[in-house]
Amino acid sequence: MKEKQLNFNNSKEEKVIVYPNGRKVKRILKSHEEDMGERGIYNKKNKLNDLTGREWTFFINSVNETDFSKNEDEFRLWEYLRDSLIATKFGTGSKDSIGHNLRKLHPSPKPPQLMRDIISFFTKKDQWILDPFMGVGGTLLGASLLDHPRNAIGIDLCGEYLKIYNKVCEQERIRKQKTILGDARNILNFDEIKNREFDLILTDPPYADMLSKKRTGGDRKDKGSFTNDKNDLGNVSYEEFFPEFKEIIKKTVSVLKNKGYLVIFCKDLQPTKNHHNMLHADIVNSLREIENLEFKGYKIWYDKTINLYPYGYPFSFVSNQLHQYILVFRKEE
Ligand SMILES: C[S@@+](CC[C@H](N)C(=O)[O-])C[C@H]1O[C@@H](n2cnc3c(N)ncnc32)[C@H](O)[C@@H]1O
Repeated sequence: MKEKQLNFNNSKEEKVIVYPNGRKVKRILKSHEEDMGERGIYNKKNKLNDLTGREWTFFINSVNETDFSKNEDEFRLWEYLRDSLIATKFGTGSKDSIGHNLRKLHPSPKPPQLMRDIISFFTKKDQWILDPFMGVGGTLLGASLLDHPRNAIGIDLCGEYLKIYNKVCEQERIRKQKTILGDARNILNFDEIKNREFDLILTDPPYADMLSKKRTGGDRKDKGSFTNDKNDLGNVSYEEFFPEFKEIIKKTVSVLKNKGYLVIFCKDLQPTKNHHNMLHADIVNSLREIENLEFKGYKIWYDKTINLYPYGYPFSFVSNQLHQYILVFRKEE
């Protein structure tokens, strides 16, 4: 990264700011701002470093890709190893994401193509998948998208989300999977579930009250919670969340076959004074207490459609989490 050249030119004239993607924006610079050409705008209140907002925005991203290879062979090996990180443009907000026009009514739907690829690794054709927090059906859609579709059952306590899933299937002419309106706490009360053995549990749970937390920086679009239901795990506190979630997963794992995998999506929260808020680590600690469940490692999903914001600029480091953890557990009886 280049050093800032100290060249304070405070003219009040309108500047044309050209972004690296070619987008041009006209604006009058404020007295504490300086145009640094292609490096972006420097904020003279910046006490931490000499970076412009654009350079700052690049640094705080939770994923930076580097290539330190010395020769072609090493580069090919590096490319191969890099595949343990899934980079996808089928983000939750991407127009390439199937049925996005309908699924966007949900605050955090998962890309069906990503779920399809995960299902394809962890199951064979015709096997059974369970998602106790199905939302608008990323997992269920993924199961139907495979050339050799799998069977899936999803539960959600919000009827609206189930309706959206069904509409997506009709719009995209995708095979409908089984959906159940209900509370995942009662998962073993449903005959379709308790009388079956599943090959994979793939889910993306609500994590305590993270959605309803006020956001910081440039992204002020508060998304609210998933539902107003008191049974929604997205409406409980961080501390209440873990025992409740563990109990649901324990019941869910009871219908998973021996050696079957449990795959869980998780995004960390921002740290606070009182807790590191590395949710993925707390989830692993909590679920490892379930008998016969072993943590096997994780993959990282880099969502290339996440917006970049200069969080914290120009005062302090705030990470822009572009990645989510895909935590992998296996039942070992
Ligand atoms: C992160 S979203 C899942 C999104 C989903 N992967 C998709 O692609 O749409 C979590 C879902 O869990 C649901 N939920 C929350 N508490 C629940 C509970 N106790 N039982 C069943 N579903 C619940 C919410 O309504 C929400 O739709």
